[in-house]
Amino acid sequence: MNSSKLAFLGAGNLASAIIRGLLEKKIYLPLEIACTSKTNLTARKLAEETGIVFEPDLPLLLDPADIVVVAFKPQSLASADPRLAEFTRDKLVVSLLAGKSLATLARTFPHARNLVRTMPNTPAAIGAGVTSYTTQAPLRHGDRSALELMLAALGTHLEVDESQLDALTALGGSGPAFLFEYVAAMREAGIAAGLAPEVAAKVALETTLGAARLLARTGEPPEALRDKVTSPNGTTFAGLQVLASRQFRETIKETILTAARRAGELSKD
Ligand SMILES: NC(=O)c1ccc[n+]([C@@H]2O[C@H](COP(=O)([O-])OP(=O)(O)OC[C@H]3O[C@@H](n4cnc5c(N)ncnc54)[C@H](OP(=O)(O)O)[C@@H]3O)[C@@H](O)[C@H]2O)c1
Repeated sequence: MNSSKLAFLGAGNLASAIIRGLLEKKIYLPLEIACTSKTNLTARKLAEETGIVFEPDLPLLLDPADIVVVAFKPQSLASADPRLAEFTRDKLVVSLLAGKSLATLARTFPHARNLVRTMPNTPAAIGAGVTSYTTQAPLRHGDRSALELMLAALGTHLEVDESQLDALTALGGSGPAFLFEYVAAMREAGIAAGLAPEVAAKVALETTLGAARLLARTGEPPEALRDKVTSPNGTTFAGLQVLASRQFRETIKETILTAARRAGELSKD
């Protein structure tokens, strides 16, 4: 019989990353976590791989749980089982659903003791994400520690006001895609400069990784590290002048502001 304290509605990429992280760090034992999914395929597979409980019956899944993690796709919320309202009474509900506001979540989970809206990003899948979160009511002590242990499985986390989430969706949520595009542009530029494609791809990736690690390790502002590589009238200086003349910073700013506006529009739909 299922007696798990932590229940997952959905067992896809993100649920799997959280569950594997929690088990690896021994924060929960496998039998303390249970999951379900729509077709049951992903949930059954995750349970087989990790030893957690697969429980397709909603009341049996949710009754013993103290924390319910909503880990299905945002578009599934509208058609979610209406019994969730009663089955999540007095529980802490943590939503991973991109773009679903606390007000929208409260329509599906009206009796939760508290609601948490999170905004993770894709590096979360390897424990290197940054997750912003906001709550319906101030978190009580035990809920905060349980939530933060869970989010730590995905990387770093920060609590914010809900009004900041559109901007954070653009910067943190979409940010990896912008960086992937930057790496692709570096690779193409390397090929244009005469490098073999595999050499250009490797150097573009390793340079991005190395520079990010250096930033994180030194804690210096990016401008300071940039200046250390830039000698007057040297090669970096010549390249940076092109970036400045083509409005590089303005372009990135417009990219983030446009994505933030779109996040706002989508979360109102
Ligand atoms: N992946 C990321 O890095 C990332 C980043 C930011 C936010 N998110 C958010 O995280 C959530 C999950 O994303 P994901 O990438 O993990 O998705 P995913 O891999 O596609 O997994 C979705 C899971 O939800 C299940 N499901 C669908 N409808 C359901 C229902 N009505 N009840 C219970 N389970 C249901 C699916 O079950 P079946 O397989 O059986 O159909 C599957 O297990 C999304 O809301 C997304 O917005 C993800």
